[in-house]
Amino acid sequence: MGGAMIHNTQIRKIVRQYLRSKGLPLHIAVTFPDIFLVDRTSRIKSRSEISGSVENLRTQLTKKTRLNIPIISSNMADVTESAMAIAIARKGGLGFIHQFMPIKDRVSQVREVKRADNEIIENPWCVKPGISLKEALDFMKLNKTSAVLVVNDDGVLVGILTNRDVQFKRYQTDEALKSLRVEDVMTKALVTANPGITIQEAIKILDAKKIEKLPLIDEKNQPVGLITAKDVVKRSQFPMAARDRKGRLLVGATVGLPDNILEEVGQLCGAGADAILLDTARANALRVQETIQKIKKEFPKAQLVVGNVDNPEGTRLLIDAGADAVKVGIGPGSACKTREETGVGMPQLTAIAECAAVAEDIPIIADGGIAKGGDFAKALAAGASVVMLGSALAGTDESPGELQMDKGQKFKVYRGSASLELQLDRLAKGSLDDIRAPEGEPRRVPYKGSVGPVIEVLIKNLSSAMSYVNALTLAELRECQMRWQTRAGHEEGMPKS
Ligand code: XMP
Repeated sequence: MGGAMIHNTQIRKIVRQYLRSKGLPLHIAVTFPDIFLVDRTSRIKSRSEISGSVENLRTQLTKKTRLNIPIISSNMADVTESAMAIAIARKGGLGFIHQFMPIKDRVSQVREVKRADNEIIENPWCVKPGISLKEALDFMKLNKTSAVLVVNDDGVLVGILTNRDVQFKRYQTDEALKSLRVEDVMTKALVTANPGITIQEAIKILDAKKIEKLPLIDEKNQPVGLITAKDVVKRSQFPMAARDRKGRLLVGATVGLPDNILEEVGQLCGAGADAILLDTARANALRVQETIQKIKKEFPKAQLVVGNVDNPEGTRLLIDAGADAVKVGIGPGSACKTREETGVGMPQLTAIAECAAVAEDIPIIADGGIAKGGDFAKALAAGASVVMLGSALAGTDESPGELQMDKGQKFKVYRGSASLELQLDRLAKGSLDDIRAPEGEPRRVPYKGSVGPVIEVLIKNLSSAMSYVNALTLAELRECQMRWQTRAGHEEGMPKS
């Protein structure tokens, strides 16, 4: 269970106090352009003082999952698959693999992220020495790996097959590849190490022996791990990366509300997902409450993020049922039509603040409507621990979808999860039975190149905002004051043509 149960009158009192303490209006709900952050005499000498230390931007995604930057990528079909999840985790955040594909594909995408840059690969891919080179190459291609260990029938390591062994053979005809055995091609003279080796010791061996792979073997000479030069280099290349205890990148995976939800959660946890997102448009619902209880009973250790809600009542429902983080936002997203079509949905800044007011120690995720660095800082100042970004990260090399051209402009399509276009796509692929009234739209988002620099700019914007309000850490940013502004006030701050 989350925090202690609190009652409605208490909730209203807590919310009023919180809004007042922030300088937010009590009776009108506001969103990002309606307010500004009040600057304060700053002790911070330069913005790099903030982004320069990993401690300052560290935050909780859930009760137990920690990130190094407060950014996660949206579980949307045009935002997060494994490439995005890998890129964002290397920057210190996390990606939620979307739910609009069969569970087996979600599982393999989670596995892909967990294997992307390991300190130690725990279950290295293995093949038998007697199989053909064609079979081995197909296996390597399927599993997107550049090396496989070769083990005999007793599980004993007898060789390794790497790109170097096959670089001149892989272009031969299939017939020729079928006639070659792995044992004829593999490297047999192996340098190995004990599983207890430290990374520093492994680096020394890789360097001294000029090798790229170091298999770890137990006392029976059976492989129990693999350290690669590539992973070691990546570790120093991405010092901010969000990793688990074993040095693997963090990744989240999403489920909707299918009948076999426990099976799906079990498979995703089994694949190594660090957080499970239970995502539904209407999370303030008894069905969701029951589902959380069911999941937490079966998988008490799973870190469960649940959304979306937009008010204290919904937030408490999810927390009291056992959610480890609450995702907030009904209708603020750039591809959303929910408010237009249903009339429901609280303006996002007030929604974040009111939900954060009653969340106690459970993190709040601000989901939707964050386009610029200013919105990002305001969402965190209002009480969010993390922001979820959709369109801001779409249109990048790492987002799914084809790059398209129109009148010399490159773009990618970004479809709302409840848009007719995505529903039709899912219907055609068999992952949806029926079309619902659309509450989302497709948009074009300009091509932005790689997602890394997009995140870097957002972090610079955030550091800048923090330096204005004298906040060295995100906890201090949450203390900052806001003031309401008029529309003219907001427009005054926009660039003029
Ligand atoms: P941004 O503004 O970052 O928003 O593009 C991303 C978030 O928008 C939500 N989303 C939707 N909301 N209808 C909705 O009402 C939709 O079709 C839809 N698609 C995405 C979602 O929360 C996402 O993270």
